Amino acid sequence: MRPILRPQYVLSLFFMMASGYAHQAVSQGPSHADLIQRGQALYLTGRLASGDLIKAKRLDLGEIKSGSDMACVKCHRPSGMGSLEGDLTIPPITGRFLFQKEEGQPVAVLDPRTARKITQPHPAYSLRSLSKVLREGVDIRGKKMSPLMPHYTLADDDVRAIMAYLDSLSATVSPGVSPTQIRFATIITPDTPPHRKDLLIKMLSSAFHQRNVSQRLHSGSMGMPMEHLPHVHREWDLAVWEVTGDPSTWQQQLIQYNQDHPAFAIFSGTSEGTWEPIQDFCERGRIPCLFPSLIAPPQQTGSHSFNFSKGLALEAAVLSKFAAMRDREGPTHWIQVHKTDVPGQLASKTFIKSSEGQPRTITDIEWDGSLKNLQDQLQTNAMNMADSSLILWLSSEELEALHLDQWQTLPKGIYLSGHLTHGHPPQLPETMAASVHVISPYEVGLKRSKQTDTLRSWLKTWDLPLSDEAFQSEVFFDLLMLTDLSSQMLDNLYRDYLIERTEDMLSWGTNVSVYPRLSLSREQHYASQGAYVTKLDSKGQLVPESDWMVP
Ligand code: HEC
Repeated sequence: MRPILRPQYVLSLFFMMASGYAHQAVSQGPSHADLIQRGQALYLTGRLASGDLIKAKRLDLGEIKSGSDMACVKCHRPSGMGSLEGDLTIPPITGRFLFQKEEGQPVAVLDPRTARKITQPHPAYSLRSLSKVLREGVDIRGKKMSPLMPHYTLADDDVRAIMAYLDSLSATVSPGVSPTQIRFATIITPDTPPHRKDLLIKMLSSAFHQRNVSQRLHSGSMGMPMEHLPHVHREWDLAVWEVTGDPSTWQQQLIQYNQDHPAFAIFSGTSEGTWEPIQDFCERGRIPCLFPSLIAPPQQTGSHSFNFSKGLALEAAVLSKFAAMRDREGPTHWIQVHKTDVPGQLASKTFIKSSEGQPRTITDIEWDGSLKNLQDQLQTNAMNMADSSLILWLSSEELEALHLDQWQTLPKGIYLSGHLTHGHPPQLPETMAASVHVISPYEVGLKRSKQTDTLRSWLKTWDLPLSDEAFQSEVFFDLLMLTDLSSQMLDNLYRDYLIERTEDMLSWGTNVSVYPRLSLSREQHYASQGAYVTKLDSKGQLVPESDWMVP
């Protein structure tokens, strides 16, 4: 058995003192701060102090390679906590793992699929043994290491710089973590309907409560093998950050929230409008922002932000592709109705853009919210209507207000948004139902109800309503993911490590979401990449009309 760890802050204090001695020995050369900076350049970009690129031999490839491909970060990651490449584990190499005495070394889970794979204590690395690893691929115990670890050509000063940088890397836990607590924040924007806000807060508080109680009891339904590895029990604290007023002021409000009570990470949360200022806040502050429920997420991925999908832009691109497959016979005419808000603009602009080069004409109708104006505009297009396909980028309530059932002429097909109608089409008269299609970013039918089974029974346990399934399943997914991630991370509570674990995570595990499949990579932070075009069957249920389409 490993000794139970003492709280981390004591360890890092001890280590800061201990490593002070090591650095005195090299104080004639460049300053310590200089060394760290050089080590950082080497670690992140593979550039040596001389300005040359680092060179190394990859035994597995039988090649000498240089530059950023050989930078340590590629394998050991920004946090220094290592990674998993297929079945090969790349160990953590921060100072806390390398340079401390055996009994002070922390524990990290190397492969969450087999919780027994954890770091083993080893003698503390010195400058000499570190340079043997880097130059010859022989570790502190004299073992020849995996050929994946390159053999570097490095001057003594380069090794010193690497040592200083590793010593500083992930040396203290991130803000939002105290010896007894870890704070997560969720963000709600003012356009959020009250029932959603209520559901979100109730689900999160119930799960946090459940988690804290089961932690206190050292067991519990959410416990997994990794929970039994030695680590400090910290209560989860939920902060609800509500932003108000104009979006241009949100970033400042969030900075203030975070200054007053810093959060380790932001997770879940919801908005029916823009999320740009919030993503900016996360990226600038380098705070992980995990999977908010959005219909119009930012379209540019950020290194610290993760989204379920590209929202309405994804739907519009899928519809355009679907239409292109249908429209082989000749030119078609499309009328699209959208509002002037952020989601409306995103959907309509993406449809127009992805229609470029198609034999397709589009009449774009911007709805200012007045029913009369919209009816007038549709009247103007009434002549075309029977020969057109109509896209209504509107919510179920807005669709009901349009009284589609009273229309004189029906278009060739009516296309509705899965996001805006929450995956459930509005009630329609039977005569219309045949021409209605819904673009569904979610799984449909039996498969969907299987995937959401766990959610339903969890809600029952907590006496919570199921009234907005797609949304609630996103929140539930977030909760399970956070539970998984935090048990994998043990006491290594660094924001960068959370990001890295998230990137690697979705490739395994059970899917409890409404999405057919979720996957992420280091470059790609939108977990779901496609949608179905569906139609209504005789019972009013959505059935796929297309395959799962990725634009
Ligand atoms: C191409 C991937 C790759 C790159 C790039 C890489 N490493 Fe490694 N490293 C590994 C692997 C794999 C191991 C584990 C080998 C084993 O245990 O057999 C390892 C092991 C180590 C170890 C030994 C850790 C221990 O617990 O004994 C150290 C130290 C280390 N690497 C430092 C570095 C530094 C510093 C750099 C950059 C100059 C670097 N590595 C670049 C893949 C890589």
